[in-house]
Amino acid sequence: MAVTLGVIFILLASFHNCDGHLSFASYYGDHMVLQKSPDRAVLWGFGPEEAQVTVFLSGPVTQKTLVTVTGGTWRITLDPVDAGGPYNVTATSQSSTASLTDVLFGDVWLCGGQSNMYFKTSQIFSASEELALSAKYPHVRPFMAALNMSETELTDLIQVELPWFVPTANVLAEFSAVCWLFGRHMYENLKYPIGLVESCWGGTPIEAWSSSRALQQCGLEQTEDSPKERNSVLWNAMIHPVLNMTIKGAIWYQGESNADYHQDKYSCSFPAMIDDWRMAFHHGSGGQTALDFPFGFVQLSTYEKLSTDDSFPNIRWHQTADTGFVPNPRMKKTFMAVALDLPDETSPYGTIHPRDKQDVAYRLTLGARAVAYNEKDVPFLGPFPTQILSTQMYVNITYDQAISVTPSRDIFELCCPGIWAPCGPKSFWVPAQIMQWGPTTIQLSSLLCQLSGEVAAVRYAWKDWPCEFKGCPVYSDSRILPAPPFIISRYASKRSIWTSY
Ligand SMILES: *[C@@H]1O[C@H](CO)[C@@H](O)[C@H](O)[C@H]1NC(C)=O
Ligand SMILES: *[C@@H]1O[C@H](CO)[C@@H](O)[C@H](O)[C@H]1NC(C)=O
Ligand SMILES: *[C@@H]1O[C@H](CO)[C@@H](O)[C@H](O)[C@H]1NC(C)=O
Ligand SMILES: *[C@@H]1O[C@H](CO)[C@@H](O)[C@H](O)[C@H]1NC(C)=O
Repeated sequence: MAVTLGVIFILLASFHNCDGHLSFASYYGDHMVLQKSPDRAVLWGFGPEEAQVTVFLSGPVTQKTLVTVTGGTWRITLDPVDAGGPYNVTATSQSSTASLTDVLFGDVWLCGGQSNMYFKTSQIFSASEELALSAKYPHVRPFMAALNMSETELTDLIQVELPWFVPTANVLAEFSAVCWLFGRHMYENLKYPIGLVESCWGGTPIEAWSSSRALQQCGLEQTEDSPKERNSVLWNAMIHPVLNMTIKGAIWYQGESNADYHQDKYSCSFPAMIDDWRMAFHHGSGGQTALDFPFGFVQLSTYEKLSTDDSFPNIRWHQTADTGFVPNPRMKKTFMAVALDLPDETSPYGTIHPRDKQDVAYRLTLGARAVAYNEKDVPFLGPFPTQILSTQMYVNITYDQAISVTPSRDIFELCCPGIWAPCGPKSFWVPAQIMQWGPTTIQLSSLLCQLSGEVAAVRYAWKDWPCEFKGCPVYSDSRILPAPPFIISRYASKRSIWTSY
């Protein structure tokens, strides 16, 4: 095995150097953003064996580093560089020079997932207005990896889809809307350069983006045979190659493909992938990318309007490691944009691809500001129950914050099994009308439970498509943040928030 790998490695290295020239790895390029201080950016590339390489950074500050090509590659770690630019980077040996121009330092965010992350800026609502704004953000720089897969872990990307670019309407039209909108909102907030690395592919399950280490933790055997859905193939070709890059954090929009594939494992596979990416990026960057880098994600939006199928609600719950909100003890330094209230019934790209990505990205940026940048007083969590009180007549729910409520007969449901049993998604649920509400409380009728006995569980918005656009019954006081869906069982509740009379 080691011999085979060695041969492949030498082949790769010599392939890049048949002419004995120096080069940068594929994802370094003109107009790129490198991670700013206090972290240190990594630069690496290929070259003829044993060549002495001098790497110059020139711009507002200058740096010079010497390194020798070994095993066909050279690699340096810059001293920390403050946000700004422009810089040039040149790598020079006796016989060859490779250079990068118009390089900025700022925060680099990786954008991963499936089709809703891939969803292009040209496809969203008000796309032309959004694209026309691109010229206002010359310091937000996108890059996109090509859609490639591999059965083995690769050292460099097979292909680049969009090299680093200064945004123009034409190119931006092809770039991820969620990634772009997140980046430009973060720029407005931080006022320094933002690098965006899109590496995602439609219709792909989490297994394809996970290393074998992460999959093993959840006992995930491969049972899918379509090429891009195979275990680790996208991790190998689209994530592993960029591990050397120092990044600030990652955002992720995925889960639809796991609604009917290893759905019950998602509460294991998702946190396991996050942990593994963190470990691998930290290791690959020589300790520069934080071991707990912030990881944001979008909780699944909607798919089928009148569906009673519970796979989307289940995945939404699993996306939080069955807790209902993040960050939580299992998923530290994560943030989530709730999106179940943003359905798009007439999307020409199918209802699974809602065109409102502006709200999704905006909600993500609230989480990033609070969790990744430790900004105080940025509300980013929708209301969540802290106390549930049940009687023969009603159920009172107390939230952790002030709420804005609109009436509903059936957004809340109760499970009343009549016998002692923990309630699950497959149990018998009855609708519970909202009777009245206060600043932080909602009172539900438990009338429909009376015949069968006590209330054993309560759940909220447990439907694929629980409400109309921005029309869910519970929001934060400001109406900006929707309450995330939950299922809380009286007997299986992890935290004892349930009392009964
Ligand atoms: C970077 O290189 C370009 C041309 O290659 C040159 O015009 C520019 O002055 C250089 N900038 C710095 C900061 O060295
Ligand atoms: C890599 O992806 C691009 C397009 O995304 C495709 O054209 C190319 O053939 C792929 N290369 C390999 C080796 O699969
Ligand atoms: C990271 O950089 C080193 C060069 O130091 C290179 O050998 C390696 O293949 C690069 N990529 C990964 C994924 O480790
Ligand atoms: C439940 O809520 C209602 C309405 O806010 C309130 O009148 C009632 O006292 C509450 N019950 C308990 C036991 O707190």
